[in-house]
Amino acid sequence: MGVGHGKIIIMGDHFVVYGIPAIVSSIDRKIIAKIEQWNGKGILCDYKGFWKGKNLMQDDKETEWLRNVMNILLNELNLQGKKFYLKLQSSIPVGVGLGSSAAISVAIAKELNEFFELGLNEERICEVAYKAEEFFHGTPSGIDNTIATYGGLLKFEKNLAGGKNRIERMKIEKPIRIVIGNTEKKGNTKELVEAVRERKEANPKEYKEIFAKAKKLVGEAEKALKEGDLRKIGELMNENNALLCKIGVSTAELEELCKIALENKALGAKITGAGGGGCMFALTPEEKVQERVAEAFEKNDYEGIKTKIGV
Ligand code: MEV
Repeated sequence: MGVGHGKIIIMGDHFVVYGIPAIVSSIDRKIIAKIEQWNGKGILCDYKGFWKGKNLMQDDKETEWLRNVMNILLNELNLQGKKFYLKLQSSIPVGVGLGSSAAISVAIAKELNEFFELGLNEERICEVAYKAEEFFHGTPSGIDNTIATYGGLLKFEKNLAGGKNRIERMKIEKPIRIVIGNTEKKGNTKELVEAVRERKEANPKEYKEIFAKAKKLVGEAEKALKEGDLRKIGELMNENNALLCKIGVSTAELEELCKIALENKALGAKITGAGGGGCMFALTPEEKVQERVAEAFEKNDYEGIKTKIGV
């Protein structure tokens, strides 16, 4: 069984693409891949809730994206032409910034590694999944495939020179309750990242200041997390969110969700992932506040997902 973890970025979304550190946590949502022997042609695939008994190697609009991913993974792992039966199951909402694309690549790569006894370590799995992420997102930072592979709570820093990224496991005293607010609108990460790049190039002075602030916030958040200063983390999330608004990746719905969260006593609220739709999350360490925020989201017709970070 191969598992790829879903995620939220606590601090540093978008800025992480430019080498600024980010803090990311897995959540209790994941994708599971299971491979079984199969003697037919190509790759038989069930994706629970999406399709059953489709052959990935046959032309089909619905499965085309997965065929592309699969071809990248098989090439990277020298498994071209292999036949097998792939069963996928996911609890991560698709295309809303919770890392579903990275999780699927990681889950499949881990299971291919197990089934074909390739003996690869997690570092190599993460690398292989990054190749598929490039296909989805153009110039991803690598944070999604990293957290999908390792899980937990990580500080991640992209190596802009192309070498190994810096990955540091962080420890906190106990997991923190959050609520993810889902607009259920799909944001296109590739387009959003490109749009930020264009605006950054057009406004170098303004963006230099924004990026410097973003970097400072991550440093402060790391300290606050280590000290268990949840109030401070909440404040820093709000500040980070203001920067994400400035770089143009927020939407009216995301801002509405943040407002609802703060009105209902969340300690902080911010977009998570690429924005342009997708999700935000609210810091709600107390169970009562978590319930209240989730209910308020639902009352306003948004999905509210109660979960924890730092597990
Ligand atoms: C990742 O989920 C979101 C972005 O930071 C893009 C990236 O890091 O590749 C916007």
